[in-house]
Amino acid sequence: MKFRYILAAMVVLPVTLLAAGSQLLGWNNLGMHCMDSDYSVFSILPPYNTIEAQLIVGGKLVTNGSGYTVTYQAVVDASGSLNSTAMGKGNYYSYATALYGAVLGPEGGLAGWNMPGTNNTPQGMLFEATNHPAAGVATPVNWWRAEGIPISPYDDARNKNPYPMMRLIAKSGSTPIATNDIVLPVSDEMDCRACHASGTMAAAQPAAGWVWSGISERDFRLNILRLHDEHQFLQHGALY
Ligand code: HEC
Repeated sequence: MKFRYILAAMVVLPVTLLAAGSQLLGWNNLGMHCMDSDYSVFSILPPYNTIEAQLIVGGKLVTNGSGYTVTYQAVVDASGSLNSTAMGKGNYYSYATALYGAVLGPEGGLAGWNMPGTNNTPQGMLFEATNHPAAGVATPVNWWRAEGIPISPYDDARNKNPYPMMRLIAKSGSTPIATNDIVLPVSDEMDCRACHASGTMAAAQPAAGWVWSGISERDFRLNILRLHDEHQFLQHGALY
């Protein structure tokens, strides 16, 4: 009855962690983060999901993070899908340095927040009283943030799951006081093939002709680069 045991553990854990009067609210900062399905030609978006979380203790929003920690880690969803690692899921890590100038270690994210890895090591979040400068004028947020986690829509069994889940755990000192399981929606279905795949839409055919490399994932991207470069050349008389 190993299965039953695991199920019981999954259900009981959050309850035992809950202390009276503490609640953890967490969310992904976008409805759905898009990423490329292939990075070998160009990139529109890297894998980059961001979590924000607020802690309520004794009915009040925590506005000073000292003494508390909030972490995230992978958690199995109701269908048994777990997404703990970014490794071995596509070619992002082979091209991240060329595309984004970042030297990333295993599980590494562009903003310094990583995937938990197959050991599912809880990853720390950063408390912020105001939002970070990239968002413009600073406004009070009082949240913990983990920016740019490189999660993909492929779970650890390599099945597609655009709604992977993470467990947030808040601690006071070393004592868990609240937890919450949230979704990090991510899609790699952003696709330009309807018009840019070789042989499709005549209006999108590059003057130099369609690319036929035998790999359709590459062809539509190379067609786009050809078009882009031809337009730049026409408009500016030279490339770039
Ligand atoms: C509904 C059809 C359609 C879709 C979908 C589409 N494109 Fe295009 N795209 C075109 C057409 C047609 C042109 C050529 C326009 C022209 O020659 O003026 C074009 C041109 C371009 C150019 C060259 C523009 C320039 O001025 O340099 C780029 C870059 C481009 N597309 C990128 C993309 C990307 C990236 C995607 C997917 C995220 C995409 N397109 C999806 C139809 C489409």
